Amino acid sequence: MNANGSIDHFRRQWQTHIAAAEYDMTYPAERPRNQWQLLERFKADLMRDLLISEGYGPGSTVLECGCGAAGIGIDLGLQGWRVTGLDISEDGLEMASQNAASHGLGEELELLVGHVEAPPVPDGSFDVVTSFGLLEHFEDMGPAMDGMVRTLRPGGLFVAEVVSFRPSALVAGRLFDMAASASYNLARLRVRKALHSWRKLVPDFYEKPLGRNGSRRVLEQAGLTDVRVWGIRPFPPLGLPASLEQKYMTLIDRASSFVKWFDSADNVITNSWGWSLMAVGRKPSLSDQDRPSP
Ligand SMILES: C[S@@+](CC[C@H](N)C(=O)[O-])C[C@H]1O[C@@H](n2cnc3c(N)ncnc32)[C@H](O)[C@@H]1O
Repeated sequence: MNANGSIDHFRRQWQTHIAAAEYDMTYPAERPRNQWQLLERFKADLMRDLLISEGYGPGSTVLECGCGAAGIGIDLGLQGWRVTGLDISEDGLEMASQNAASHGLGEELELLVGHVEAPPVPDGSFDVVTSFGLLEHFEDMGPAMDGMVRTLRPGGLFVAEVVSFRPSALVAGRLFDMAASASYNLARLRVRKALHSWRKLVPDFYEKPLGRNGSRRVLEQAGLTDVRVWGIRPFPPLGLPASLEQKYMTLIDRASSFVKWFDSADNVITNSWGWSLMAVGRKPSLSDQDRPSP
């Protein structure tokens, strides 16, 4: 575990997926095979709507930092956005490349190895910069934010998804996994394993708790304006056997109108229960920067 992107953890995770040829586990598929694909589909819908409503529709350039398998980037690429994926892990990019090829996206998706604190692209070269599940793995998010904001053109849009450990769907999901693991092992008289179930509460990678105010501060300190932070994803991913996972997916699918409402609402319920937070801000345009401070 390290406090600078949990790099080793994710490298091992990608190697495990590559060995099992599971390239598109988190691709937001129309006909999802697992709960991750289903949950990511809602995020992909939200992203497309958000980019269009902010004036960055298809044709805009997007840099997805810490892209891993790049599910959202590939979805955007297939709909006409010009996407570049950046990750420090070559295995993560191998996942992205295989994932893109299997969905019919080839060289349109550019993939770069690099550190988010110093992305190997010219300053101000992207309309939109995104990161999903990256910032919370840094103890000091400042250098990562500076690196990402540097690549944004003036007036460009920054969008991050951060998980935040607080009473929420995230904690409920982890409590559920802990209880399920303890009951499963107790029923098989595996007392030692049952006692270790508490580990389901604590991830085996570095994760820094950030609330709404903390996320807002991180974006503002990086010089972004018009910052908005709201809770998304009412349903947590759960550790379920395949038969129950299908039932859970049916339940989520039936509640899809609710999920779409939840993901775009900004109120006390969604902000406290959301599994993760969406944090959005804009890099000041040149005319904003020229404006004298009051
Ligand atoms: C939790 S995964 C998220 C992957 C993907 N964005 C998603 O939502 O499925 C975090 C990703 O960030 C990458 N990463 C970690 N530290 C990084 C860094 N310093 N620079 C670039 N990428 C990094 C990891 O290799 C991993 O692919």
